[in-house]
Amino acid sequence: MRTIESLGDLRGKRVLVRSDFNVPLKDGVITDDGRIRAALPTLEKLVHAGARVVVMAHLGRPKGEVKPEFSLAPVAARLGELVDAPVTLAKDVTGPSAHEVVAALKDGEIALLENVRFDARETSKVDAEREALAKEYAELGDVFVSDGFGVVHRKQASVYDIAKILPSAAGLLVVKEIESLRRATDNPERPYAVVLGGSKVSDKLGVIANLLTKADMLLIGGGMVFTFLAAKGLNVGKSLLEEDQIDVVRGYIDEAAQRGVELVLPVDIIVAPEFSADAPATVVPADAIPADQMGLDIGPESQKLFAEKLATTKTVAWNGPMGVFEFPAFSGGTRAVAEALSKGSMFSVVGGGDSAAAVRLLGFDESTFSHISTGGGASLELLEGKVLPGIAVLED
Ligand code: 3PG
Repeated sequence: MRTIESLGDLRGKRVLVRSDFNVPLKDGVITDDGRIRAALPTLEKLVHAGARVVVMAHLGRPKGEVKPEFSLAPVAARLGELVDAPVTLAKDVTGPSAHEVVAALKDGEIALLENVRFDARETSKVDAEREALAKEYAELGDVFVSDGFGVVHRKQASVYDIAKILPSAAGLLVVKEIESLRRATDNPERPYAVVLGGSKVSDKLGVIANLLTKADMLLIGGGMVFTFLAAKGLNVGKSLLEEDQIDVVRGYIDEAAQRGVELVLPVDIIVAPEFSADAPATVVPADAIPADQMGLDIGPESQKLFAEKLATTKTVAWNGPMGVFEFPAFSGGTRAVAEALSKGSMFSVVGGGDSAAAVRLLGFDESTFSHISTGGGASLELLEGKVLPGIAVLED
Protein backbone atom coordinates (compact mmCIF):
# COMPACT_ATOMS: atom_id res chain seq x y z
CA MET A 1 0.00 0.00 0.00
CA ARG A 2 1.31 3.46 -0.85
CA THR A 3 2.07 5.54 2.26
CA ILE A 4 2.15 9.31 2.87
CA GLU A 5 5.92 9.37 2.21
CA SER A 6 5.24 8.42 -1.43
CA LEU A 7 3.53 11.80 -1.88
CA GLY A 8 6.79 13.73 -1.45
CA ASP A 9 7.22 17.14 0.19
CA LEU A 10 3.78 18.36 1.27
CA ARG A 11 4.67 21.90 2.44
CA GLY A 12 2.15 24.34 0.98
CA LYS A 13 0.30 21.55 -0.82
CA ARG A 14 -3.44 21.06 -0.44
CA VAL A 15 -3.87 17.54 0.94
CA LEU A 16 -7.38 16.09 0.71
CA VAL A 17 -7.89 13.60 3.54
CA ARG A 18 -10.82 11.19 3.92
CA SER A 19 -11.47 10.59 7.61
CA ASP A 20 -14.23 8.61 9.30
CA PHE A 21 -15.90 11.01 11.71
CA ASN A 22 -19.13 9.02 11.88
CA VAL A 23 -19.40 9.33 15.66
CA PRO A 24 -22.42 8.61 17.87
CA LEU A 25 -24.37 11.73 18.87
CA LYS A 26 -27.02 12.20 21.54
CA ASP A 27 -28.94 15.49 21.45
CA GLY A 28 -26.18 16.98 19.29
CA VAL A 29 -23.44 15.94 21.73
CA ILE A 30 -20.73 13.44 20.72
CA THR A 31 -20.90 10.45 23.09
CA ASP A 32 -17.73 8.67 21.87
CA ASP A 33 -15.01 10.68 20.10
CA GLY A 34 -12.79 7.61 19.50
CA ARG A 35 -12.90 8.00 15.72
CA ILE A 36 -11.88 11.67 15.89
CA ARG A 37 -8.94 10.83 18.17
CA ALA A 38 -7.92 7.97 15.89
CA ALA A 39 -7.65 10.45 13.00
CA LEU A 40 -5.23 12.75 14.84
CA PRO A 41 -1.87 11.07 14.01
CA THR A 42 -2.39 11.53 10.26
CA LEU A 43 -3.83 15.04 10.56
CA GLU A 44 -1.01 16.17 12.84
CA LYS A 45 1.64 14.61 10.64
CA LEU A 46 0.28 16.58 7.69
CA VAL A 47 -0.08 19.79 9.71
CA HIS A 48 3.51 19.50 10.96
CA ALA A 49 4.67 18.88 7.39
CA GLY A 50 3.19 22.29 6.49
CA ALA A 51 0.35 20.93 4.37
CA ARG A 52 -2.97 22.71 3.87
CA VAL A 53 -5.30 19.97 5.02
CA VAL A 54 -8.80 19.56 3.55
CA VAL A 55 -10.79 16.87 5.33
CA MET A 56 -13.76 15.02 3.83
CA ALA A 57 -16.05 13.02 6.13
CA HIS A 58 -19.62 11.81 6.53
CA LEU A 59 -21.99 11.64 9.45
CA GLY A 60 -24.90 9.21 9.40
CA ARG A 61 -26.95 8.56 6.29
CA PRO A 62 -28.66 11.83 5.20
CA LYS A 63 -29.32 10.21 1.79
CA GLY A 64 -28.14 13.08 -0.41
CA GLU A 65 -30.13 15.79 1.36
CA VAL A 66 -28.85 18.68 3.43
CA LYS A 67 -30.21 17.94 6.89
CA PRO A 68 -28.93 20.14 9.74
CA GLU A 69 -29.01 17.27 12.26
CA PHE A 70 -26.33 15.54 10.14
CA SER A 71 -24.04 18.59 10.01
CA LEU A 72 -20.40 18.02 10.91
CA ALA A 73 -20.49 21.12 13.16
CA PRO A 74 -20.12 19.14 16.44
CA VAL A 75 -17.24 17.18 14.88
CA ALA A 76 -15.49 20.37 13.72
CA ALA A 77 -15.78 21.78 17.26
CA ARG A 78 -14.38 18.60 18.86
CA LEU A 79 -11.60 18.30 16.29
CA GLY A 80 -10.67 21.93 16.96
CA GLU A 81 -10.26 21.07 20.67
CA LEU A 82 -8.14 17.98 20.02
CA VAL A 83 -5.87 18.90 17.12
CA ASP A 84 -2.89 21.15 17.21
CA ALA A 85 -4.13 23.45 14.38
CA PRO A 86 -6.97 25.84 13.50
CA VAL A 87 -10.04 24.07 12.03
CA THR A 88 -12.63 25.77 9.78
CA LEU A 89 -15.86 24.07 8.70
CA ALA A 90 -17.15 24.84 5.19
CA LYS A 91 -20.89 25.37 4.82
CA ASP A 92 -21.13 23.06 1.81
CA VAL A 93 -19.39 20.04 0.25
CA THR A 94 -17.83 21.34 -2.98
CA GLY A 95 -19.69 24.65 -3.36
CA PRO A 96 -18.63 28.30 -2.98
CA SER A 97 -18.04 28.02 0.78
CA ALA A 98 -15.74 24.99 0.37
CA HIS A 99 -13.71 26.85 -2.29
CA GLU A 100 -13.53 29.98 -0.15
CA VAL A 101 -12.40 28.12 3.00
CA VAL A 102 -9.80 26.10 1.10
CA ALA A 103 -8.44 29.18 -0.70
CA ALA A 104 -7.99 30.92 2.66
CA LEU A 105 -6.03 28.00 4.20
CA LYS A 106 -2.48 28.70 5.33
CA ASP A 107 0.23 26.05 5.70
CA GLY A 108 -0.53 23.84 8.71
CA GLU A 109 -4.24 24.70 8.85
CA ILE A 110 -7.27 22.41 8.48
CA ALA A 111 -10.52 22.85 6.56
CA LEU A 112 -13.39 20.39 7.01
CA LEU A 113 -15.93 20.08 4.20
CA GLU A 114 -19.58 19.62 5.21
CA ASN A 115 -20.99 16.08 5.35
CA VAL A 116 -20.08 14.55 1.98
CA ARG A 117 -23.35 12.58 2.05
CA PHE A 118 -25.27 15.86 1.67
CA ASP A 119 -24.43 15.32 -2.02
CA ALA A 120 -26.33 12.33 -3.45
CA ARG A 121 -23.49 11.58 -5.89
CA GLU A 122 -21.17 10.58 -3.01
CA THR A 123 -22.88 7.22 -2.51
CA SER A 124 -24.36 6.80 -6.02
CA LYS A 125 -24.26 3.36 -7.60
CA VAL A 126 -23.72 5.06 -10.99
CA ASP A 127 -19.97 5.32 -11.61
CA ALA A 128 -20.25 8.50 -13.73
CA GLU A 129 -22.12 10.34 -10.96
CA ARG A 130 -19.52 9.49 -8.34
CA GLU A 131 -16.70 10.34 -10.72
CA ALA A 132 -18.22 13.78 -11.43
CA LEU A 133 -18.26 14.54 -7.69
CA ALA A 134 -14.74 13.17 -7.28
CA LYS A 135 -13.57 15.65 -9.94
CA GLU A 136 -15.10 18.46 -7.88
CA TYR A 137 -13.21 17.20 -4.80
CA ALA A 138 -10.03 17.11 -6.88
CA GLU A 139 -10.35 20.86 -7.50
CA LEU A 140 -9.91 21.33 -3.75
CA GLY A 141 -6.70 19.30 -3.36
CA ASP A 142 -3.39 18.38 -4.97
CA VAL A 143 -3.00 14.92 -3.44
CA PHE A 144 -5.27 12.48 -1.56
CA VAL A 145 -4.73 10.61 1.71
CA SER A 146 -7.22 7.86 2.57
CA ASP A 147 -7.51 7.57 6.34
CA GLY A 148 -11.19 6.81 6.97
CA PHE A 149 -10.73 3.14 7.76
CA GLY A 150 -14.40 2.75 8.78
CA VAL A 151 -15.50 3.52 5.18
CA VAL A 152 -12.86 1.71 3.08
CA HIS A 153 -15.41 -1.03 2.35
CA ARG A 154 -17.59 1.55 0.57
CA LYS A 155 -17.13 2.28 -3.14
CA GLN A 156 -17.90 5.98 -2.71
CA ALA A 157 -16.64 9.18 -4.33
CA SER A 158 -14.55 10.47 -1.39
CA VAL A 159 -13.14 6.99 -0.65
CA TYR A 160 -12.62 5.27 -3.98
CA ASP A 161 -13.11 7.52 -7.04
CA ILE A 162 -10.96 10.39 -5.76
CA ALA A 163 -8.03 7.97 -5.29
CA LYS A 164 -8.11 7.28 -9.02
CA ILE A 165 -7.84 10.97 -9.91
CA LEU A 166 -5.20 12.39 -7.56
CA PRO A 167 -1.84 10.95 -6.44
CA SER A 168 -3.03 8.96 -3.43
CA ALA A 169 -1.77 7.12 -0.36
CA ALA A 170 -3.00 5.43 2.81
CA GLY A 171 -2.93 7.44 6.04
CA LEU A 172 -1.42 6.21 9.30
CA LEU A 173 -4.72 4.90 10.68
CA VAL A 174 -5.50 2.86 7.57
CA VAL A 175 -1.98 1.38 7.57
CA LYS A 176 -2.23 0.47 11.26
CA GLU A 177 -5.73 -1.03 10.91
CA ILE A 178 -4.78 -3.16 7.92
CA GLU A 179 -1.54 -4.38 9.51
CA SER A 180 -3.28 -5.32 12.75
CA LEU A 181 -6.32 -6.98 11.19
CA ARG A 182 -4.15 -8.92 8.75
CA ARG A 183 -1.92 -10.05 11.61
CA ALA A 184 -5.06 -11.34 13.35
CA THR A 185 -6.37 -13.16 10.29
CA ASP A 186 -3.57 -14.17 7.91
CA ASN A 187 -1.01 -16.46 9.50
CA PRO A 188 -1.91 -15.69 13.14
CA GLU A 189 0.35 -16.92 15.91
CA ARG A 190 -1.40 -19.96 17.44
CA PRO A 191 -3.46 -20.86 19.37
CA TYR A 192 -5.75 -18.42 17.58
CA ALA A 193 -9.20 -17.68 19.02
CA VAL A 194 -12.05 -15.68 17.58
CA VAL A 195 -14.69 -14.26 19.91
CA LEU A 196 -17.96 -13.33 18.25
CA GLY A 197 -20.97 -11.60 19.76
CA GLY A 198 -23.55 -8.99 18.89
CA SER A 199 -27.21 -9.43 18.31
CA LYS A 200 -27.58 -11.06 14.90
CA VAL A 201 -25.92 -14.20 13.64
CA SER A 202 -27.02 -13.25 10.10
CA ASP A 203 -24.56 -10.29 10.22
CA LYS A 204 -21.67 -12.64 11.01
CA LEU A 205 -22.24 -15.59 8.65
CA GLY A 206 -19.41 -14.59 6.29
CA VAL A 207 -17.03 -14.09 9.21
CA ILE A 208 -17.85 -17.46 10.73
CA ALA A 209 -17.49 -19.23 7.37
CA ASN A 210 -14.07 -17.64 6.75
CA LEU A 211 -12.71 -18.01 10.26
CA LEU A 212 -13.78 -21.65 10.63
CA THR A 213 -11.00 -22.39 8.15
CA LYS A 214 -8.42 -20.45 10.19
CA ALA A 215 -9.21 -20.33 13.92
CA ASP A 216 -8.33 -22.95 16.53
CA MET A 217 -11.15 -21.83 18.80
CA LEU A 218 -14.44 -20.00 18.29
CA LEU A 219 -16.14 -18.47 21.34
CA ILE A 220 -19.71 -17.29 20.87
CA GLY A 221 -21.80 -14.95 23.03
CA GLY A 222 -24.23 -12.06 22.57
CA GLY A 223 -27.72 -12.28 21.10
CA MET A 224 -26.42 -14.48 18.29
CA VAL A 225 -25.59 -17.30 20.70
CA PHE A 226 -29.25 -18.23 21.11
CA THR A 227 -29.45 -19.38 17.50
CA PHE A 228 -26.47 -21.65 18.31
CA LEU A 229 -28.20 -23.00 21.42
CA ALA A 230 -31.42 -23.55 19.42
CA ALA A 231 -29.39 -25.36 16.73
CA LYS A 232 -28.23 -27.71 19.49
CA GLY A 233 -31.85 -28.42 20.32
CA LEU A 234 -32.11 -26.24 23.44
CA ASN A 235 -35.03 -23.99 24.38
CA VAL A 236 -34.10 -20.31 24.46
CA GLY A 237 -37.31 -18.82 25.90
CA LYS A 238 -37.93 -15.24 24.78
CA SER A 239 -34.25 -14.71 23.78
CA LEU A 240 -33.27 -13.28 20.39
CA LEU A 241 -33.53 -16.06 17.84
CA GLU A 242 -33.16 -16.14 14.08
CA GLU A 243 -35.14 -19.24 13.25
CA ASP A 244 -34.31 -19.04 9.55
CA GLN A 245 -30.61 -19.37 10.41
CA ILE A 246 -30.84 -22.45 12.64
CA ASP A 247 -29.93 -24.85 9.81
CA VAL A 248 -27.01 -22.70 8.66
CA VAL A 249 -25.70 -22.54 12.21
CA ARG A 250 -26.10 -26.31 12.59
CA GLY A 251 -23.92 -26.64 9.48
CA TYR A 252 -21.25 -24.47 11.12
CA ILE A 253 -21.37 -26.54 14.31
CA ASP A 254 -20.77 -29.70 12.23
CA GLU A 255 -18.01 -28.04 10.21
CA ALA A 256 -16.25 -26.88 13.38
CA ALA A 257 -16.30 -30.46 14.67
CA GLN A 258 -14.95 -31.83 11.37
CA ARG A 259 -12.16 -29.28 11.21
CA GLY A 260 -11.21 -29.69 14.86
CA VAL A 261 -12.10 -26.07 15.70
CA GLU A 262 -13.08 -25.88 19.35
CA LEU A 263 -16.50 -24.25 19.60
CA VAL A 264 -16.98 -22.67 23.03
CA LEU A 265 -20.57 -21.80 23.93
CA PRO A 266 -21.79 -20.39 27.25
CA VAL A 267 -22.73 -22.91 29.94
CA ASP A 268 -24.92 -20.45 31.83
CA ILE A 269 -26.96 -17.40 30.90
CA ILE A 270 -28.17 -14.29 32.73
CA VAL A 271 -31.87 -13.98 31.97
CA ALA A 272 -34.56 -11.42 32.71
CA PRO A 273 -38.29 -11.21 31.92
CA GLU A 274 -37.81 -8.15 29.69
CA PHE A 275 -35.24 -6.00 27.91
CA SER A 276 -34.60 -3.23 30.43
CA ALA A 277 -31.79 -1.99 32.64
CA ASP A 278 -33.59 -2.73 35.91
CA ALA A 279 -35.27 -6.01 34.97
CA PRO A 280 -34.64 -8.64 37.69
CA ALA A 281 -31.67 -10.75 36.56
CA THR A 282 -31.29 -14.49 37.28
CA VAL A 283 -28.53 -16.95 36.35
CA VAL A 284 -29.71 -20.19 34.75
CA PRO A 285 -27.91 -23.11 33.06
CA ALA A 286 -27.74 -22.65 29.26
CA ASP A 287 -29.94 -25.75 28.84
CA ALA A 288 -32.64 -24.50 31.20
CA ILE A 289 -33.71 -21.05 29.97
CA PRO A 290 -37.31 -20.56 31.20
CA ALA A 291 -39.96 -19.97 28.52
CA ASP A 292 -40.90 -16.54 29.93
CA GLN A 293 -37.31 -15.20 30.20
CA MET A 294 -34.80 -13.79 27.72
CA GLY A 295 -31.02 -14.15 27.84
CA LEU A 296 -29.25 -10.79 28.11
CA ASP A 297 -25.68 -11.86 28.95
CA ILE A 298 -23.49 -14.91 29.37
CA GLY A 299 -23.41 -16.12 32.99
CA PRO A 300 -20.58 -16.07 35.57
CA GLU A 301 -19.43 -19.67 34.88
CA SER A 302 -19.25 -18.87 31.16
CA GLN A 303 -17.34 -15.67 31.88
CA LYS A 304 -14.77 -17.73 33.81
CA LEU A 305 -14.66 -20.36 31.06
CA PHE A 306 -14.16 -17.77 28.29
CA ALA A 307 -11.41 -16.03 30.28
CA GLU A 308 -9.62 -19.36 30.90
CA LYS A 309 -9.79 -20.30 27.21
CA LEU A 310 -8.52 -16.90 26.12
CA ALA A 311 -5.61 -17.08 28.56
CA THR A 312 -4.22 -20.04 26.54
CA THR A 313 -4.11 -18.14 23.22
CA LYS A 314 -1.46 -16.16 21.32
CA THR A 315 -3.83 -14.28 18.99
CA VAL A 316 -7.43 -13.16 19.51
CA ALA A 317 -9.84 -11.35 17.21
CA TRP A 318 -12.94 -10.10 19.01
CA ASN A 319 -16.03 -8.71 17.33
CA GLY A 320 -19.32 -8.00 19.11
CA PRO A 321 -20.35 -7.68 22.76
CA MET A 322 -21.28 -10.73 24.87
CA GLY A 323 -24.43 -9.17 26.32
CA VAL A 324 -26.33 -5.92 26.73
CA PHE A 325 -23.26 -4.10 28.07
CA GLU A 326 -25.06 -0.74 28.15
CA PHE A 327 -27.04 -2.09 31.17
CA PRO A 328 -24.66 -2.69 34.13
CA ALA A 329 -26.49 -5.87 35.22
CA PHE A 330 -25.79 -7.43 31.80
CA SER A 331 -22.27 -6.12 31.14
CA GLY A 332 -20.34 -8.88 32.96
CA GLY A 333 -19.73 -11.08 29.89
CA THR A 334 -18.36 -8.26 27.77
CA ARG A 335 -16.28 -7.06 30.70
CA ALA A 336 -14.85 -10.56 31.25
CA VAL A 337 -13.71 -10.86 27.62
CA ALA A 338 -12.28 -7.32 27.64
CA GLU A 339 -10.45 -8.07 30.88
CA ALA A 340 -8.98 -11.34 29.58
CA LEU A 341 -7.60 -9.52 26.52
CA SER A 342 -6.50 -6.46 28.44
CA LYS A 343 -4.55 -8.53 31.00
CA GLY A 344 -3.28 -11.15 28.58
CA SER A 345 -0.06 -11.03 26.60
CA MET A 346 -1.65 -12.33 23.37
CA PHE A 347 -1.95 -10.17 20.24
CA SER A 348 -5.53 -8.88 20.58
CA VAL A 349 -7.61 -7.04 18.04
CA VAL A 350 -10.98 -5.60 18.99
CA GLY A 351 -13.07 -4.95 15.90
CA GLY A 352 -16.49 -3.53 15.28
CA GLY A 353 -18.15 -0.37 16.49
CA ASP A 354 -19.96 -1.96 19.45
CA SER A 355 -17.12 -3.92 21.02
CA ALA A 356 -14.78 -0.93 20.68
CA ALA A 357 -17.40 1.34 22.27
CA ALA A 358 -17.92 -1.26 25.04
CA VAL A 359 -14.22 -1.32 25.89
CA ARG A 360 -14.25 2.45 26.33
CA LEU A 361 -17.62 2.60 28.12
CA LEU A 362 -16.52 -0.07 30.60
CA GLY A 363 -13.46 2.03 31.40
CA PHE A 364 -10.65 -0.16 30.03
CA ASP A 365 -7.32 1.40 29.13
CA GLU A 366 -7.27 1.19 25.35
CA SER A 367 -3.50 0.86 25.30
CA THR A 368 -3.73 -2.56 27.01
CA PHE A 369 -5.18 -4.04 23.80
CA SER A 370 -2.92 -4.60 20.80
CA HIS A 371 -5.38 -2.82 18.51
CA ILE A 372 -8.90 -1.42 18.78
CA SER A 373 -10.37 -1.03 15.32
CA THR A 374 -12.36 2.06 14.35
CA GLY A 375 -14.18 0.04 11.70
CA GLY A 376 -17.57 -1.63 12.06
CA GLY A 377 -18.53 -3.04 8.66
CA ALA A 378 -14.99 -2.51 7.34
CA SER A 379 -13.33 -4.66 10.00
CA LEU A 380 -16.03 -7.33 9.63
CA GLU A 381 -15.44 -7.48 5.87
CA LEU A 382 -11.68 -7.84 6.46
CA LEU A 383 -12.40 -10.68 8.89
CA GLU A 384 -14.56 -12.20 6.16
CA GLY A 385 -11.50 -12.14 3.90
CA LYS A 386 -13.09 -9.75 1.38
CA VAL A 387 -11.24 -7.30 -0.87
CA LEU A 388 -12.18 -3.75 0.17
CA PRO A 389 -12.48 -1.22 -2.71
CA GLY A 390 -10.97 1.67 -0.71
CA ILE A 391 -7.89 -0.44 0.05
CA ALA A 392 -7.50 -2.09 -3.33
CA VAL A 393 -7.43 1.33 -4.99
CA LEU A 394 -4.37 2.29 -2.90
CA GLU A 395 -2.55 -0.86 -3.98
CA ASP A 396 -3.00 -0.53 -7.75
C1 3PG B 1 -19.46 3.09 10.05
O1 3PG B 1 -20.01 3.74 10.95
O2 3PG B 1 -19.32 1.85 10.11
C2 3PG B 1 -18.83 3.81 8.90
O3 3PG B 1 -18.70 5.17 9.16
C3 3PG B 1 -19.59 3.55 7.63
O4 3PG B 1 -20.87 4.06 7.70
P1 3PG B 1 -21.99 3.49 6.71
O5 3PG B 1 -22.29 2.09 7.16
O6 3PG B 1 -23.16 4.43 6.84
O7 3PG B 1 -21.41 3.51 5.31
